[in-house]
Order: sequence, then structure tokens, then C-alpha cells
Amino acid sequence: MYILSFESSCDETSVSVTKDGKHVLSNEILSQIDIFKEYGGVVPEISSREHVKGITYVYLNALKNANLKIDDIDYIAVTEGPGLIGSLLTGINAAKIVSINTHKPLVGVNHLSGHIYAGMIEHDVEFPLLAIIISGGHTEFVVMKDHYDFQKIGSTLDDAVGEVFDKVARILGIPYPGGPLLDKIGKEGKDIYKLPRPMIDSKDYSFSFSGLKSATLGLVQELENKNIEYKNSDIARSFEEAVADVLLKKAKTAIKEFGIKEVLVVGGSAANSVIREKLEKGIKSAKVTLADKKYCGDNAAMIGISAYYKIKNGLIDDVTLTPKSRLDL
Ligand code: KG4
Ligand code: ZN
Repeated sequence: MYILSFESSCDETSVSVTKDGKHVLSNEILSQIDIFKEYGGVVPEISSREHVKGITYVYLNALKNANLKIDDIDYIAVTEGPGLIGSLLTGINAAKIVSINTHKPLVGVNHLSGHIYAGMIEHDVEFPLLAIIISGGHTEFVVMKDHYDFQKIGSTLDDAVGEVFDKVARILGIPYPGGPLLDKIGKEGKDIYKLPRPMIDSKDYSFSFSGLKSATLGLVQELENKNIEYKNSDIARSFEEAVADVLLKKAKTAIKEFGIKEVLVVGGSAANSVIREKLEKGIKSAKVTLADKKYCGDNAAMIGISAYYKIKNGLIDDVTLTPKSRLDL
């Protein structure tokens, strides 16, 4: 089964062709990151227009690089939410046009399920699994007993992991998007500052990272005020270790409570080296699968893989599909 998929929920225009819910034949991504560097973040209206400009080019390349023609495709999939309405709309309209013109069925995919299925590209999972979604907009623990059976067991009460990386990066003068560069700087640093691990001992799977962001800002201000020399790399590393410790502790608790066999670490911040290492080394009682770094950030391949399992579950949409800024799993 060949699926052509579209993703445009935030600042990446992406189109992909995937095969049988496992293989990626093409995954074209046009990123708007360079445009938003000067703004320090995504400007929704500009993002919408950039998607409109790029989508046809990305679509044509996705088919070309998969060595397929549109007639070879079985289903059209598209991210329906959550995300920026104007941005989502471009992907959805493009998918609808292709679906109507070719009489191929349309499938709407939840962006978060896409992130989870990024961990299943070229990989068979064992259920029950725990998906740790850490992205710019979301931090969620999701238990799955089978394909397309999502049980959200907890999420962040304030900032998402990626969001707090970007904000702490800004405190350290690192340009948007801060996550990848903070990761790089942190590799040179040491965990020498005692930053808080918010809600690490709470009995549930809720997270709160805004206090950690404030504590990091307070630390930097104190060092500056007291004229104490410090290295950005040490602050970055101390911050990363704090985030990773919270994720590890809660993952261990969930593994026990839900009899988890495999942990999937997915989403933009799943590319972080400290988080990857800590979860991989720290979890002994379940298999740990880290999403391939090239599928951590937003991409259409993960939407195609997720769509495959949605179709297998008999769930198909039609051209009445609408974009949704908020959408639960
Ligand atoms: O999943 P994603 O591409 O978009 C959303 O769905 O939000 O995630 C983007 C987020 C950004 O906040 C970015 O800073 C973060 O992922 N990120 C990272 C790293 N690479 C990207 N955070 C920490 N370490 C990284 N290496
Ligand atoms: Zn995402």
C-alpha cells in the first residue's frame, strides 16, 4: 500500500511517500526556520503564506524521488491538527485537491500520532508501549496496548519540553530554534548547577517546566549580578540533565504501572543527546527505541506511517475534513 502524505502543521512543509506503514520512499521537507530566525519564533501568518508557496514543489519532488506516479498511490493522508490553522489549511487543501482529482481516499492524521509512529519506521514495536512525545508544542506520555489505541496518561501543565529548550536558549543568547544549538553547546559543559527537577516525585504523569526555566534565568542573573564567571555550556548541560531526569523518573514509574515492554522516544526534542543517553542507559526493564534523528522533527513520513494503521483500523475520512488547532489523541 502506497500512501502520499502531507504535513504543514507548523513551520515545515513536507510531503512523503511511504509503503506498507513501514518504509519511507521519499520525505521532502521545506523548513521555514531560516525565515523565523530574525523573529525569534514562528509568525503564523507568514508561515501560512510560505506553505502556499512551497507545497506544489515539495509534492512534485516527493513523487519524483519515490519514483512513482500519482496513479500508483492508494491513499492520501494529511495532518488535520493540532497546529496552526492557516498552516494546516494549506496541507489539507492540497491533499483534498489530489484526493478529488484522483478519486483516492483521504485520511486525516493527528500530528501527535504521527510523532509516535515516527518511532515505528522500519521498526516493529512490542505492546504495551509507552510513547514519550517531547516536541515544541507538546509533552505527553501515551500508553498503547495496540495500534491506534492511544491512552494519554499525562502531559505538561505549562511549557512543553521543546518550548522550554527554546526559552532557555534565548536566556543564553542562542538564536531560534534554540533546542539543537543548546544541545551542541551542552556537550562541552558539565552538570555543576543544582537546578530543580519539577514534579519529579509527584505520583502522576504531569509535568511542569516553566519553574525550571525561571530557575535557570534566576541562576544566570545571580551569576551576572555577583560577577561570577560562568560558561553557557555548563548552564545548558545542567538544564538538560534536569529535564532528562524528570522524564526518566516518570518513565520508570509508568513502565511498572502499565507493564510496559517498549518505550518510544519521539518528537523534536527526542533528538537531544542528553535525553537520548539518559533514557537509553537509565531504563533497564523495557526496550528503549529512540526515533531516528531525521524523523524526530516534523515530517510527512510519520504522517504516512500513522495513516497506514488508521486505515487498517477502518478509519477513513473524506473531503469534509477540516483543520483543528487543538486535537487530542
Ligand atoms: O516536533 P517538532 O519539530 O515540532 C513540534 O511539533 O513542535 O519540535 C520542535 C522542537 C523545537 O522546540 C526545537 O527546539 C526542539 O524541538 N528540538 C530540540 C532539539 N532539536 C529540536 N530540543 C532539544 N534538543 C535538540 N537536539
Ligand atoms: Zn511536531
